[in-house]
Amino acid sequence: MAAPKILVLPGSTRSRSHNIKLAALAAKELTLIDADVTRISLADYPLPLYEGDLESKAGAPDNAVRLKQMIMAHHGVFIASPEYSASVTPLLKNAIDWVSRVRERGDPTYAAFKGRVFAISSASPGRSGGLRSLMALRQILELGCGALVIPEQVAIPSADNAFDEMDNIIDIATANLFRAQLARLVDMARVMS
Ligand SMILES: Cc1cc2nc3c(=O)[nH]c(=O)nc-3n(C[C@H](O)[C@H](O)[C@H](O)COP(=O)(O)O)c2cc1C
Repeated sequence: MAAPKILVLPGSTRSRSHNIKLAALAAKELTLIDADVTRISLADYPLPLYEGDLESKAGAPDNAVRLKQMIMAHHGVFIASPEYSASVTPLLKNAIDWVSRVRERGDPTYAAFKGRVFAISSASPGRSGGLRSLMALRQILELGCGALVIPEQVAIPSADNAFDEMDNIIDIATANLFRAQLARLVDMARVMS
């Protein structure tokens, strides 16, 4: 059986981002459990702020179409994203909004979010680890876009001190939870493949 294809997507493009670090760790761990992993950066898909008149005049930008096609080429999507003001980053929300508007020939609505499985996690220097952003992101993906999001999620607090020099998660219980989340993502993605 072919390895399930998993897309790893950070919701931050900041240099030295904790969530890019978490995404890189996810990619490493997913490869170890035989997933076929692609890691992307939203910096490679620059998008204007969504605006209805812009869409009416010009349709979805090419980068929104490219991003939608990239998501659709995978059986699972892992998102690691920061918490901004108790919610998701505008970068990630804007990307999701644009992708939700792309409708190529024969697509059902929200095509990019159907037929694949999502897993979400966050890292923050704060004490909650970005937990509130995960609640918001789950709502956007599940209720807004009709996606299947696995219940397992990991929020990593005190992110400045949460990773060792090899960028592994130091706390053993959290590291185990993270691996269990990724294993579940791969299991579910296999069902979708
Ligand atoms: C506008 C803004 C709002 C933020 N709000 C929160 C917040 O509500 N909760 C939190 O834990 N951290 C918050 N932070 C801090 C981010 O978690 C921190 O900057 C983090 O390092 C960003 O993620 P990154 O390292 O992946 O870029 C906020 C940061 C910014 C810039």
